[in-house]
Amino acid sequence: MILVTGARGTVGRELTALLQARGQPFRALARNPEKAKSATLPGGVWRQGDFVAPDTLRAAFDGIECLFLLCGAQPDMDILEINAVEAAKQAGVGRIVKISVPNASETGIAALQRLHGRSEAALGASGIAWTVLRPNGFMQNLYGPTQGFDARRICRLPLGEAKYCFIDAQDIAATALVALTEDGHAGKVYDLTGPEALSYAEAARIVSKATGETFTFVDIPPRECRADLLAAGIDAWFVDEILEWFALFRHGRVGGVSDAVETVSGRAPRALSDFAQGNLANFGAPGRHG
Ligand SMILES: NC(=O)c1ccc[n+]([C@@H]2O[C@H](COP(=O)([O-])OP(=O)(O)OC[C@H]3O[C@@H](n4cnc5c(N)ncnc54)[C@H](OP(=O)(O)O)[C@@H]3O)[C@@H](O)[C@H]2O)c1
Repeated sequence: MILVTGARGTVGRELTALLQARGQPFRALARNPEKAKSATLPGGVWRQGDFVAPDTLRAAFDGIECLFLLCGAQPDMDILEINAVEAAKQAGVGRIVKISVPNASETGIAALQRLHGRSEAALGASGIAWTVLRPNGFMQNLYGPTQGFDARRICRLPLGEAKYCFIDAQDIAATALVALTEDGHAGKVYDLTGPEALSYAEAARIVSKATGETFTFVDIPPRECRADLLAAGIDAWFVDEILEWFALFRHGRVGGVSDAVETVSGRAPRALSDFAQGNLANFGAPGRHG
């Protein structure tokens, strides 16, 4: 049996949809399963569990053979994921597929690189067969609150000509599905990217063409971005973390295009133009194609 953690999140939702479409039995973890009940997943699928409370994980992991490990970005994410790895060990879980970040390392520059690095190290020492997936920036960020185009279709970030290899969360999920259900991926670290390296200005042009609306990127200094994000109510720790990542991308310290999505999953990763056409409403451009 597979357990998907982070099942209500951006990647987890895609993974549970793929598992469901394939008819593969699975369970989905949520801190509050009442909130998690949705029309798309049957109620019996959900298990209650919180990485903060190892006792809840003991029950949630009972009978689980394969674990998809994902925790939302937060300052103690390493401790939370290590709790999950420990509970998995006690429950006899045989395989873990973990979501991480590019260049995760205990000595990484950005906090999330270090947090994921510590969690990866615990996973490596656990004796459980593991696969680590390190995605580039999600395409879904482009309509999100911290790194996306706003209601005026403007995106103001300190990114200059920095290149992102944006990836659709569905491609991350498709790769995770294979690593969870097929052999040959134990002990592997996969950098996951979309098919092209794009600056935000190039991404704006692609989204404009796909939606028929004008999307604009404006390069701003980091301090202005910090003020914008804090004013928008984004948690100060996360603001600092996002700014660290912007600096990494600006200085070309995040890798380029990888072929791992296609090599592992057998499907070519989705291009941004196709993603934008498939997400018109999310980009606030529902008019063009109805
Ligand atoms: N966004 C990017 O561009 C990007 C790029 C590379 C890597 N990543 C990594 O991807 C991950 C985020 O993925 P996402 O965007 O799919 O997540 P998300 O949409 O932010 O959702 C976070 C999930 O984490 C779960 N969670 C948080 N705290 C928990 C706890 N204490 N116990 C159990 N579950 C908990 C939440 O569960 P509930 O349903 O209970 O709330 C939720 O399902 C992070 O590890 C991040 O570093 C992101």
